[in-house]
Parts: sequence; C-alpha cells; structure tokens
Amino acid sequence: MKDSNRTVRWGILGTARIAEKISIAIHQAENAELTCIASRDATRAADWAEKHHVKRSVASYDALIHDPDIDAVYIPLPPALHGEWTVRAARAGKHVLCEKPLALNVNQAREMRRVCLENEVQLMDGVMWYHHPRAHEMLELIRSDALGEHRRITSAFTFNWDTVPEGDLRLQRDLGGGSLGDLGWYCIGVALWAFNELPTKVFGTARPYNDVDYNFSGIMWFSKDRIASFDCGFDVNMRKWFELAGTKASLICDDFTRPWENTKPAYEVKDSQGNRTRHETANPLQETCMINHFCDIIRSGRLEQQWPDLGINTQRVLNALDYSARTETVVNLADFFPK
Ligand SMILES: NC(=O)c1ccc[n+]([C@@H]2O[C@H](COP(=O)([O-])OP(=O)(O)OC[C@H]3O[C@@H](n4cnc5c(N)ncnc54)[C@H](OP(=O)(O)O)[C@@H]3O)[C@@H](O)[C@H]2O)c1
Repeated sequence: MKDSNRTVRWGILGTARIAEKISIAIHQAENAELTCIASRDATRAADWAEKHHVKRSVASYDALIHDPDIDAVYIPLPPALHGEWTVRAARAGKHVLCEKPLALNVNQAREMRRVCLENEVQLMDGVMWYHHPRAHEMLELIRSDALGEHRRITSAFTFNWDTVPEGDLRLQRDLGGGSLGDLGWYCIGVALWAFNELPTKVFGTARPYNDVDYNFSGIMWFSKDRIASFDCGFDVNMRKWFELAGTKASLICDDFTRPWENTKPAYEVKDSQGNRTRHETANPLQETCMINHFCDIIRSGRLEQQWPDLGINTQRVLNALDYSARTETVVNLADFFPK
C-alpha cells in the first residue's frame, strides 16, 4: 500500500551485537519506529528493550513475526537461521532485512527470494555501504570513462583476534560461520557491484579452523579480461579497502565497508603519474541510509528486486569459492548452481 508518510514499524529477531547499531539507525530514520525486540530469553529481551528504547519485548521470534503491528523485521541471527526465519517472516507478511551471508547455500537463498516475492514483501541483505552517498558517487565515477577500461578489483576485509573466541558464531560450522561469509561477502559484493555481472570462474584457498575458513583468498575471472581478487580473515589487522584499476586511473577506497571516521567518508582517484585526487562525500550514518532506503521501498509499494538478486548472486559466488577451496579446483560458475 502506497503512503509516503506512513511510519514503518520494525521488529528485531535476537539481541545480537550488530542489532545495537541498527536500533540507533531505526531511531534516527525518518518515519520509522522500533516497535519490538524478540529474544529466546524473556529477561534478555526486556533488558535490551529498556536499554535501546524499544516499545515492547517478546520471548519468542514467532510471537514477533505474527505481531500485526509490525511491518518489517531485521534478522541478525546466525547465518544458519536466516533462511528459516526469512521464510517464516515473509509468510507472515513482513518485509525482511536479513543479515549477511543471506543463506547457507544458493537454493536456500532462492527459496527466500521466491517466498518474499510470493508474499509481496521486500528482501534485502544487511550490507550497509551500498546505500551510502559515497557508494552512489563512486558508482557514477565507475560508470563514466574516468578510469579508462576496467581491469582489476583488489579488495581486503580483515580483522585480528588476539584471543580466538571459540564460542563465536563465526567459528561454528553448524551456525554458518567462516570468514568468507562474514567478511568475504563484502569483497565479492564490491566486485559484482562494480562490474555489474557474475564472474565466469573462480578459485579460492582457505586456512581451515574448526571446519570453517579462518581466512580466505579468492580470485574471480570476469568477461573482457577483468579479474577481481581479495583476501579476508580473522588473523590480520583491520583492513577494509578496495582498488578498482583501469587503464587510465585507479579508484581507491580505503574503508569501503565502513568509513574510518564517520564524519569524513572519502575516496581517491590516482592517475598514472601518482597524482591523487581526494573526494569527500556527505556523511550520514550508513546504517541509517540503509534503513531509510528500506522504509522508502515499503512506503512506495514498489519492491526492488535488484537487492535479493544481488544477494543471491553474491551467495552463488561465495558457495562456488568455498567449493573451490575445499576441492582445490577452479570452478566454472555456469556448472555451479546453474541459473
Ligand atoms: N552488516 C554488518 O555490518 C554486520 C556486522 C556484524 C555482524 N553482522 C551479521 O549479523 C549476524 C549476527 O552477528 P553478531 O555478531 O551480531 O551475532 P551475535 O552477537 O552472536 O548475536 C546473534 C543473536 O542471534 C540469536 N541466536 C539465536 N539462536 C542462536 C544460536 N544458536 N547461537 C547464537 N545466537 C543465537 C541470539 O539472540 P537471543 O539470544 O536474544 O535470541 C544472539 O544474540 C551475522 O549474520 C553477522 O554476519 C553484520
């Protein structure tokens, strides 16, 4: 239903750490309300509601998705639960903002998209940086001929654990852990976003730990002699950059997943003589940009299919890379979960 002033009422499934950032974003967003938090534990839900200024709390995810006063749910559960709760929420008529990685595999991600479409609700993954004005400016530059012909995207997303947190969902295979889904999702995403197509083949190699990948390095081959490569992992200091190298110049963003300083998001263009031009952009919080965008979609009544499509394509490449690393083979995308 189209109503440009309508307040979008949000519910959150699980008292996840990342949900704290999203609660701030919902409070900041225009015409949005944080209506309910659900936890498996009633006390945890009530405490979280008080701390983060949520109107109500409930002690089951099921109760939240069947609440008639909720329009949209944010799902920051472990990846292994994304599929099940997205499908359930969509069947209950809720729009779904689901954390990354979207699912455990491509078939599950496709089912999530299918059920959301069938129930006429939006599905989007929780990658925030796509929605920031800096991303829009960079994409305009990429679509111009400023860089010449595109050849390479190189990216990295890492952080270092001094002490390995054995209980963290990132290290549990049954919860959908691993650095590729946690961090590599962004590196795959930036390549698909910039090149606007799927790679033809991929290769990956990983350091295993607990039957998940503790770190991962990947290569993706695209049409027109373009290559993307990346590394991600839990064993190197915080890095979150990409470089898109063209025949004339490079676009460099040192902190694409989240600006080092929220107040100064920037990117650089560097030419063959080493001249660097720094571009600073508007500086809203990227999570607020994402929530505002999601609410706009709901209010407009026009679902945006590019978001589940991008999520599924990212999932497709991710699973192909994972399979490549496990089998030490180059994987052709066409053979792997064909369209
Ligand atoms: N977009 C981003 O910038 C960003 C950043 C960080 C993380 N993430 C993603 O957000 C998701 C959550 O990450 P996080 O680090 O915030 O997680 P977390 O703090 O470990 O929270 C996960 C929540 O899921 C619920 N849960 C339900 N079943 C669970 C189980 N079997 N084991 C553990 N927790 C369970 C718990 O809530 P209750 O106990 O209250 O029910 C828990 O608080 C992941 O998919 C991650 O990749 C995204």
